[in-house]
Amino acid sequence: MAVVKRIFSGVQPTGNLHLGNYLGAIRNWVALQNRDEYETIFCIVDLHALTQQPEPEALRSAIRATAAAFVAAGVDPTKSVVFAQSTVPGHAELSWLFSCLTPLGWLNRMTQFKEKAGKHRDNAVLGLYAYPVLMAADILLYRATHVPVGEDQKQHLELARDIAGSFNQRYGVDFFPLPEPQILGAATRVMSLRDGTKKMSKSDESDYSRLNMSDDADTIALKIRKAKTDMDALPDHIDLLEARPEARNLLNIYAALTSRPLEEAVAEMAGKQFSDLKRVLTDAAVSLLGPFTAEYNRIMADPAQIDAFLRLGTDRAQAIAAENLAAVQDITGLLRVR
Ligand code: AMP
Ligand code: TRP
Repeated sequence: MAVVKRIFSGVQPTGNLHLGNYLGAIRNWVALQNRDEYETIFCIVDLHALTQQPEPEALRSAIRATAAAFVAAGVDPTKSVVFAQSTVPGHAELSWLFSCLTPLGWLNRMTQFKEKAGKHRDNAVLGLYAYPVLMAADILLYRATHVPVGEDQKQHLELARDIAGSFNQRYGVDFFPLPEPQILGAATRVMSLRDGTKKMSKSDESDYSRLNMSDDADTIALKIRKAKTDMDALPDHIDLLEARPEARNLLNIYAALTSRPLEEAVAEMAGKQFSDLKRVLTDAAVSLLGPFTAEYNRIMADPAQIDAFLRLGTDRAQAIAAENLAAVQDITGLLRVR
């Protein structure tokens, strides 16, 4: 069947991948990759990670670790294009062209910048502010039409659509598609195990807040045992979860891990104690993450092989990017004499 949709998504190589990354994004990538009508491109966004000033050695190993995690989670580097963002220079180039079209007012609305910059906004680096413009360039460099991400990226995608529309309008062309978010599955927003109102995140200080994809069975059991709860038995209806963020989060994770709707997980656990839920949740998490960890360790033992499949991905990505960038140079009036 002919390819009708081009999918692009990315993850930052910062720290461990956690269950939120898997359930919110990577699991959906694997499902999309295996459908004939989709062409899938998955990127390790190392230029985005530089906004946090990582140590060079830590960044280098996180890029390989993220690539290994993609593959261990089921991304097939011969079916999907898997590569590191910085190895295709067009991302940074297109980002500059877009930054010349993006009003500051649009960027001032970005909630992730406000969160990350904190109170001392004057000290935040330009790259953090321009982060969503680079993200728009990532997607549009490939003229991707669909972007599978977790809920937290919705606003950035709206900006990418606005930038695409603004470019098309400024130059009177219909060149960039308006990329659509694909926010799929039961767990588009996995919350912290320590606070059901906060997103599970790589940057949380407490490792107990998240289940890392590389945690072993004992660590998973310990983190779930220590996960925050409230005092009551588990409710018998989904509406009652509104006021109980920890119950909602653990039930939501349980539902996602066992690939069922939340209603079914709620019905199974109705009237039971948190300790009962934690027991079945631990089993479900261990049976998902166990095989992942084994595969991840196997891949990580051979960095040369990781580099080889990343190189293959770069070649394939670069071929698409070069063609689109040449068209953009023509559209914008830049000479192509090099
Ligand atoms: P990041 O770790 O911020 O680079 O995010 C990579 C991908 O994982 C993006 O698609 C995010 O939307 C998704 N993601 C990150 N944290 C979570 C979470 N707590 N719940 C669901 N999806 C998430
Ligand atoms: N900003 C995304 C995140 O933190 C990562 C990302 C960068 C991305 N470029 C992208 C996601 C392009 C989807 C498409 O999760």
